[in-house]
Amino acid sequence: MADAQSVPLKKKLEGKVAIVTGGASGIGEATVRLFAEHGARAVVIADIQAEKGRSVAESIGSQCCSYFQCDVADEERVKSMVEWTVKTYGGLDIMFSNAGIIGSSDQTILDLDFSQYEDVMRVNARGMAVCVKQAARKMIELGTRGAIVCTSSVVAVVPVQMFTDYTMSKHAVVGLVRAASQQLGAHGIRINCVSPSAVVTPMAKKVGVATAGDVENLFGPSTSLKGVSLTAERVAEAVVFLASDDSAFITGHNLVVDGGLISMPFIQVGTKSS
Ligand SMILES: NC(=O)c1ccc[n+]([C@@H]2O[C@H](COP(=O)([O-])OP(=O)(O)OC[C@H]3O[C@@H](n4cnc5c(N)ncnc54)[C@H](O)[C@@H]3O)[C@@H](O)[C@H]2O)c1
Repeated sequence: MADAQSVPLKKKLEGKVAIVTGGASGIGEATVRLFAEHGARAVVIADIQAEKGRSVAESIGSQCCSYFQCDVADEERVKSMVEWTVKTYGGLDIMFSNAGIIGSSDQTILDLDFSQYEDVMRVNARGMAVCVKQAARKMIELGTRGAIVCTSSVVAVVPVQMFTDYTMSKHAVVGLVRAASQQLGAHGIRINCVSPSAVVTPMAKKVGVATAGDVENLFGPSTSLKGVSLTAERVAEAVVFLASDDSAFITGHNLVVDGGLISMPFIQVGTKSS
């Protein structure tokens, strides 16, 4: 029997041109790397962290990966980034709209700080809609039957006791995907989202989930699936599925990647928003 390690990867994105927002770090970075491994012709990292974004792009190779400085909530900048991608690489097949921020855990409804709320909604809700809009318009203009994947969160599925603004923003992503799937289907464009539970990334560290041990301690008791933990790479595998022809008849779907989480642990660390 063939050793699993020696079986070559079946490339699922051969020749595709993709944009990954928030691709400089965490889930976005893991997805950029997996898109490249799956044969994507080009991956554009759209982010605001220039040093990290450039370093990820260089580590993959300048012939197939670039960094583009872009605040996802700035519609003109997103439009330019999409134009640049098409001009440079000759098309746009995949948009992974993933950039996001989290506010402080103590954003309960009774203490909601609206300046933090506005920061979170600006990136997570408005930024997501801007990227979907500009990618879809370009795909329609080019006649491309593209795939759009957004990052929501398990907080859009399982009730939480804190992070009210973040939770609202991630419900907005699911709403965007549901509405847009109905509107873009006629053009052959699919749009879905992934909803991960906790993954150790710089964002998770800001709210006190800094190590795999923290994830296990906090989420392990409420997760039905045992003996396996969530990593950015596992989320990236779900994104590749939704971005590839493996999911050719799936649209408007929220793919929860949470090992069967049955309740959200209470996290009270009172961090300030990024
Ligand atoms: N880490 C988790 O536990 C977790 C769980 C569920 C969902 N998510 C979601 O996953 C996505 C990625 O988060 P992550 O955990 O990889 O965090 P991360 O902080 O490692 O990555 C987020 C990236 O988004 C970029 N970004 C932030 N604001 C931006 C803006 N205005 N324009 C462009 N780029 C911007 C950041 O610079 C960063 O590179 C987010 O949408 C987050 O809400 C994360």
